[in-house]
Amino acid sequence: MKNLIDILDLSVEELDGLIETACDIIDNPGKYAHACEGKKLATLFFEPSTRTRLSFEAAMYELGGHVLSVSSAGSSSAAKGESIADTARTVSCYADIIAMRHPKEGAPYVAGNNATIPVINAGDGGHNHPTQTLADILTIYREKGGFDNLTVGFCGDLKFGRTVHSLINALSRYSGIKVVLISPEELRLPEYMKKDVLEKNGMEYMETEDLLEYMADLDVLYMTRVQRERFFNEEDYMRLKDSYILEPSKIEKAKEDMIIMHPLPRVNEISIRIDDDPRACYFKQVLNGKYMRMALLLKLLEVNVQ
Ligand code: NCD
Repeated sequence: MKNLIDILDLSVEELDGLIETACDIIDNPGKYAHACEGKKLATLFFEPSTRTRLSFEAAMYELGGHVLSVSSAGSSSAAKGESIADTARTVSCYADIIAMRHPKEGAPYVAGNNATIPVINAGDGGHNHPTQTLADILTIYREKGGFDNLTVGFCGDLKFGRTVHSLINALSRYSGIKVVLISPEELRLPEYMKKDVLEKNGMEYMETEDLLEYMADLDVLYMTRVQRERFFNEEDYMRLKDSYILEPSKIEKAKEDMIIMHPLPRVNEISIRIDDDPRACYFKQVLNGKYMRMALLLKLLEVNVQ
């Protein structure tokens, strides 16, 4: 595997390997402090980001490596009309690995086909976000001990929420997973996700507009932000943005060990009054994301740490 464009580029065994490495990094950080000495990561972010870019950069620094960064489309030659292919070839002359975020679906794939170094998809339009899934998967693993037989509720913008698409793909390889899709009519999970992923893998799923309907059944509740930047008009966004707001009263019937996840940034979807609930895991996801990105950098750079 040269690039990580889609979470399914990783086999289940490879994903297990990343989890194992991330857990070892958590237990023995000193062992990894110089692992990527002399290596350079280029972060090419053509869309806003706080967590993903900084966690890739922190990950590389914690491995002893260096970082080169383009943090907006306007500050790079993309603004002059350079193609993704040419940018990828150029950056291959400076760095050892690329993490790319782009508003166009498929852009990191094109970069991966043209770069001579590994390319990681750090989010492409409303399509995929495999490294957020790595953060989510490590969080589920650490909090729930595994993946089989979980009932997972996804709530909010299931149409444009790329983290939802990637996590459902990742979960499709485990057994007994039930998926509850909670969204307004207009923001339902795309048909291709239902047909090609849920139905094809025989995954049981239900759709509802009511956040409370299946609350008592959930092992994981994955909240998402309405993706304002993917809307064609502001009116629709304003109408839908506060469709779901998780407050303490809404989780009264939830299991005591249900975990509440969110890829962040949150806008209004989770009240800050939930933050002190032991079930709230969204800041744990942030930290887990850094460890999984460290594990991923080691894998793609083919660095072995003994
Ligand atoms: C997500 C994204 O960029 O898709 N953020 C992130 O990387 N943690 C979720 C979002 O922006 O809503």
